[in-house]
Amino acid sequence: MVKVIFDTDPGLDDAIALFFMLGRSDKLEPLAITTVFGNVSIEKTTENALKLVESIKKEGISVHSGASHPLVRDLTTGEFIHGDSGLGDVELDKPKKQIEDTKAAVCMAEYVLKHPGEVTIITVGPMTNLGLAMRLFPEIKDNLKEVIVMGGSVGFGNRTASAEYNIFADPHAAHIVFESNVPITMIGLDVTKKSSPSKEHIEQLQEIDNKASSLALKFLDFYRKKFDKDKNIALHDACAVAYAIDPSIFTTKEMDVRVELTGTHTFGRTVCSKGQEEVVDESRKEKRPVNVALEIDREKFFKELIEGYRRL
Ligand code: BDR
Ligand code: CA
Repeated sequence: MVKVIFDTDPGLDDAIALFFMLGRSDKLEPLAITTVFGNVSIEKTTENALKLVESIKKEGISVHSGASHPLVRDLTTGEFIHGDSGLGDVELDKPKKQIEDTKAAVCMAEYVLKHPGEVTIITVGPMTNLGLAMRLFPEIKDNLKEVIVMGGSVGFGNRTASAEYNIFADPHAAHIVFESNVPITMIGLDVTKKSSPSKEHIEQLQEIDNKASSLALKFLDFYRKKFDKDKNIALHDACAVAYAIDPSIFTTKEMDVRVELTGTHTFGRTVCSKGQEEVVDESRKEKRPVNVALEIDREKFFKELIEGYRRL
């Protein structure tokens, strides 16, 4: 059982990933959900997280709100993809449960220090909460099991030609995390772009016919209409959950990853070395490499995802 904290900005694909994570309680033990600004404002991402959890009757999971803004840069959100509320055109009941008093960064540190070496943090939004937690409680760096990041790309970006959204939205926080020397797996656009569901996968979700699957289908529908007219919708955030469940779904390679913080056209890019000796400068020798996902076994991914929805 992997103890996980899910740091998220729901968000359509975040919502699909959140249900997936809660469905796989055979493999994952969610300690908490922490929220961050991102696809929409922090007020909305937090309310969405509470609503999503209650919509599938998993009220036992606590929701902790986090950063409302990036550390340094100005705020950039994604209503043009995720809709004004962040959940497309889906309307869910107002949440009954309150947000926890403990803020996201503190919650992360408390759990990591309570279970040394056992906690995996999955970040599927801007990494501001984890960046703050590492600055406030540097001791967590020696006690984290792993950080799984949905973000970045070896190749092209999606918010700019160079940058993927979660990194672009707070590159300075991403920099803190990528330079922290903790074990990190980067699930970037190189693999998430290949996670689009086929007609058969959609049919399998339809057959499940429970609350979670019918909501996921609505999110996918909105996402498809709004975002990608070629119907190539990516389940970015669910890929990070899949890695926590079964790393063998992905082919990975150790790379030196740095976040570009100054480039005019490359701000927020994850600059990944090919791992060749001559491109790695001497000063990076002590730095722990990042485990970068380069390929995804799409069928294996959907097998796990569908199983998660079936269990809800
Ligand atoms: C990431 O950006 C957000 O819009 C998605 O939720 C995902 O986390 C993909 O670049
Ligand atoms: Ca997200």
